[in-house]
Amino acid sequence: MAVFREVFLVLLLTAAAVVSKPNIVYVLTDDQDVKLGSLDALPVLKSLMTDQGLYFDNAFVTTPVCCPSRSSILTGKYTHNHHTYENTVERGCDAPSWRTLNENKTMGPYMSMAGYKTGFFGKYLNNYGEPGSGVDLSHIPPGWTRWFTLQGNSKYYNYSVSNQGVKESHGDNYTLDYFTDVIKAEAVKFIEESSDSPIFMYIATPAPHRPATPAPQYESRFVGQVAPRSPSYNFDSKDKHWIISEGTPVMTKEVIGLVDELYEMRLETLLSVQDLLEAVVGALEKQKVLNNTYIFFNSDHGYHLGQFKQQGEKRQPYEEDIRVPLIVRGPGIKPNTTTQALALSIDMAPTFLDLAGWPLPEDMDGQSLKPILLGEEPAETNYQFLVEYFGAGTSPGVGCFYYGPYVPFLHDCVNNTFLSLRMHDSQNGDQIFSDFFSTDAVPMSQSDIYFREYYNITEDYWELHNAVASLTDKETEEFENTIWNFHMCTGSSCHKMRGKKNSRA
Ligand SMILES: *[C@@H]1O[C@H](CO)[C@@H](O)[C@H](O)[C@H]1NC(C)=O
Ligand SMILES: *[C@@H]1O[C@H](CO)[C@@H](O)[C@H](O)[C@H]1NC(C)=O
Ligand SMILES: *[C@@H]1O[C@H](CO)[C@@H](O)[C@H](O)[C@H]1NC(C)=O
Ligand SMILES: *[C@@H]1O[C@H](CO)[C@@H](O)[C@H](O)[C@H]1NC(C)=O
Ligand SMILES: *[C@@H]1O[C@H](CO)[C@@H](O)[C@H](O)[C@H]1NC(C)=O
Ligand SMILES: *[C@@H]1O[C@H](CO)[C@@H](O)[C@H](O)[C@H]1NC(C)=O
Ligand SMILES: *[C@@H]1O[C@H](CO)[C@@H](O)[C@H](O)[C@H]1NC(C)=O
Repeated sequence: MAVFREVFLVLLLTAAAVVSKPNIVYVLTDDQDVKLGSLDALPVLKSLMTDQGLYFDNAFVTTPVCCPSRSSILTGKYTHNHHTYENTVERGCDAPSWRTLNENKTMGPYMSMAGYKTGFFGKYLNNYGEPGSGVDLSHIPPGWTRWFTLQGNSKYYNYSVSNQGVKESHGDNYTLDYFTDVIKAEAVKFIEESSDSPIFMYIATPAPHRPATPAPQYESRFVGQVAPRSPSYNFDSKDKHWIISEGTPVMTKEVIGLVDELYEMRLETLLSVQDLLEAVVGALEKQKVLNNTYIFFNSDHGYHLGQFKQQGEKRQPYEEDIRVPLIVRGPGIKPNTTTQALALSIDMAPTFLDLAGWPLPEDMDGQSLKPILLGEEPAETNYQFLVEYFGAGTSPGVGCFYYGPYVPFLHDCVNNTFLSLRMHDSQNGDQIFSDFFSTDAVPMSQSDIYFREYYNITEDYWELHNAVASLTDKETEEFENTIWNFHMCTGSSCHKMRGKKNSRA
């Protein structure tokens, strides 16, 4: 009898533990800036997320371009550990090597092992299901219960999805096909059909990525709004690395008009993301589980619109590109609060696993933000982290890459390859030191460093003047040693370095 009672008790406790697991919803936009003010245009996002939760004032990505950054988000790893260097299959994006090395170690399989019903809605990796990737849309990565995923890169109309491994093609009828709305409906359905288990949802919208096609009802909502004329806007900087100082011409009047138009359309596409959030929150409320759900709002990297003459793009080590919005609401999180704590793209997977009560895998480079979310630990505001970027050329190792649905412009080059050390501490403020490499070859070599930049961001908020000449040789050497150690770090050695701070003294 006593034995029975114990068994019963254990069962009861286990059941209680399972039931109390919180739901987790991760909403990821594509190319959304934070430094240029996109959040200011989104009142519904503010009332549903910022007013209800914790805003991270210092959220960054560790690689400012789609596929490598999404790979970091999914795996909790720096680019040097997941080996997705660029957006192409040749450089690892949804390549066969991704599937053997990483795909069963993303947050999906772990959350599934932690007892979650998992759902993926939207953009996975830029080459998913594309010819050349080695798999078609029948491929469902391990660990995902529901799979409703875009073929290839961000689109709004005329796309195909893998609907549970079956190809489904869409045209351009707004009511039936607008991609943000389509994943909204699928996400809501998933919530409605999941009352009996904790759910984990990854919802990745096309917005506000190019072509930035707004829904018809939002088409002229921001007419006349122009890209912010920041001090760095169209600034003809001559003391920066090659692609900026020599490769990029000053924007003409025509280009300025096109960038402004893109700015307007980007904001308009985000209005549909607000609709998506509203629907998801509404569905959770209807299921009476909103109070047991963490909702994250984030972007895969930032974006610049005219800074240092560069038309709309990412791929640079400046704040516009590496900073991202991150807002989290959920049980135990104080509403309407802001933290100065560091949050990185590689922290997403560790944070979700921690909230799910699953141990952090030893090979994850990121760290859980749960103690910050729940106010269990004061924010560590002395920190440093690495930004890694591998420049894209016409083919691996060669040349430059021009792009433009509007006016083609120099978009990236193999020598736009960099390792940056981004630092903050109370004495020295915000600093960034960058090494630029003449080739995107892996492994990287110190002998390929051809240029250096340094900014005291506290003093030079728009990073207008490269102050590398103000550093002593010893300071430069110390920054470079730290960069190199970071570039070799894995798991706990990355965690250890993050808290340390190089100081100039
Ligand atoms: C959020 O906090 C600010 C002050 O920190 C206050 O002015 C504002 O009214 C608050 N908003 C809500 C929705 O509580
Ligand atoms: C991934 O697959 C490998 C090889 O099949 C296996 O050893 C490993 O345990 C798997 N990892 C996870 C998280 O499922
Ligand atoms: C979708 O494709 C059709 C057929 O190619 C084309 O006529 C239409 O303009 C496309 N729609 C959009 C929004 O690109
Ligand atoms: C778009 O789809 C809706 C719903 O099926 C339909 O009522 C409408 O006629 C379609 N519009 C066009 C232009 O085909
Ligand atoms: C969550 O809300 C539901 C009703 O919507 C309520 O029944 C439940 O007790 C609440 N749970 C907590 C932990 O507040
Ligand atoms: C950077 O690469 C481009 C394209 O190969 C080349 O034209 C340019 O000279 C290179 N810049 C430097 C400083 O090597
Ligand atoms: C950066 O600038 C701030 C503000 O002027 C200053 O307090 C700080 O000491 C500077 N940091 C370094 C490393 O010089």
